[in-house]
Amino acid sequence: MRAVVYEDVRTVGVHEVPDATLEAETDVLVRITSSALCGTDLHMYDGRTGASPGLVLGHEPLGVVEQVGSAVQTLRPGMRVVIPTHLFCGTCAMCSRGLSAACLRARAEGPGAAYGYAGMGPYRGAQADLLRVPWADANCVAVPGEPGDAYEDDFVLLADAFVTGWHAAATLAGVEPGDTVAVFGAGTIGLLSAYSALLRGARVVYCVDCVDARLDKAGEIGAVPIDFRRGDPVEQIRRDRARAGLPLGEEMLSGVDKVIDAVGFQARDREHPEQERPDQVVADAARLVNPTGAIGVAGVYPDRDLHPRPGATSHEDLVAPWGTLFGKGVAVRFGRTHDRRYTRLLRDLVVSGRARPGVIVTHHGSLTDAPELYRRFDRREDGVIKALLHP
Ligand SMILES: NC(=O)c1ccc[n+]([C@@H]2O[C@H](COP(=O)([O-])OP(=O)(O)OC[C@H]3O[C@@H](n4cnc5c(N)ncnc54)[C@H](O)[C@@H]3O)[C@@H](O)[C@H]2O)c1
Ligand SMILES: [Zn+2]
Ligand SMILES: [Zn+2]
Repeated sequence: MRAVVYEDVRTVGVHEVPDATLEAETDVLVRITSSALCGTDLHMYDGRTGASPGLVLGHEPLGVVEQVGSAVQTLRPGMRVVIPTHLFCGTCAMCSRGLSAACLRARAEGPGAAYGYAGMGPYRGAQADLLRVPWADANCVAVPGEPGDAYEDDFVLLADAFVTGWHAAATLAGVEPGDTVAVFGAGTIGLLSAYSALLRGARVVYCVDCVDARLDKAGEIGAVPIDFRRGDPVEQIRRDRARAGLPLGEEMLSGVDKVIDAVGFQARDREHPEQERPDQVVADAARLVNPTGAIGVAGVYPDRDLHPRPGATSHEDLVAPWGTLFGKGVAVRFGRTHDRRYTRLLRDLVVSGRARPGVIVTHHGSLTDAPELYRRFDRREDGVIKALLHP
């Protein structure tokens, strides 16, 4: 089969690799119809998070079941399925609590595993013709329709992007109806966090970034774009809140109730945008959040940055403004997405027409287009926000 393989820093290739096969009686093989590129793939592509040459990339698959192991009960060949990024056994102490991204059985070295992901277990990635799915009854979620139909782009985002956006809004930041919200980063995760916050009834959602196509997309989905090239985003948002007219007695609450970090450690330094400043977003979030508010951190902060950009720190001991956060009584939550918790709920919002996350998909290609799409996505050029490969 063909697969997208990490070769070296900023180089991927499309290689012939041995076919995925059934390895346990609880496995299925899925023929991939769509497989998305993700900001997390870029951390590996940029050599920042320790991918080894030969790694098959991809953790956002949608496809059709092709072969079924003898112990699989609920799936049969021909079923259309989406597969959550974090694979899990379904029965260990964490899975039985619904904490699938911390499964204790899927990876010997520690909690949680994922496809095509450095440090997250031996599982080959999904940017390929075929994918082996372990513990398939738990890991495959059936979706209606036919490959290539009008829902293809929506359903593939159920694997990671939409569930992560929802997790960031609902669980990490705890967005409630009527909240004011700011999302830092208008990549896929930021946009779908903003989209989820709006679905949950936020009264206003700001989206901060510096890339025109992404700011335009934020406006398109109903958020208020904030371009940090025009000045301090915290001041811009406070000004807009004041302009909107703060309710009587709430003049001191000119920030926002909930903030989402959808950028992570590769945040740009706003003073020197060509450089990185890994604590930039956390610093801005602490200034912007209202007293007793919450900050949800969906952006990745790895243990170690193996290849820091010029100006970035190489160590993980970032300084957080503890005094400000304590003084305001702000809750800060991190965490990988226990994706499987939300897959069915969000699928049903898509099927009922209440949610169309696929509006953020900008590019489509075949597997052979992967090297070029990675290159353009890495440079945030040609308006690439979310690219899908269709093997
Ligand atoms: N928690 C999870 O389970 C999970 C799942 C998927 C992705 N992620 C992580 O979420 C993050 C975002 O993913 P993505 O696919 O949207 O990535 P992306 O790289 O496409 O988007 C990040 C955006 O942040 C913007 N940005 C950079 N510095 C900024 C700053 N100082 N202020 C505001 N915006 C700034 C960039 O211009 C870019 O548009 C990544 O760290 C990714 O690894 C986490
Ligand atoms: Zn992803
Ligand atoms: Zn488990």
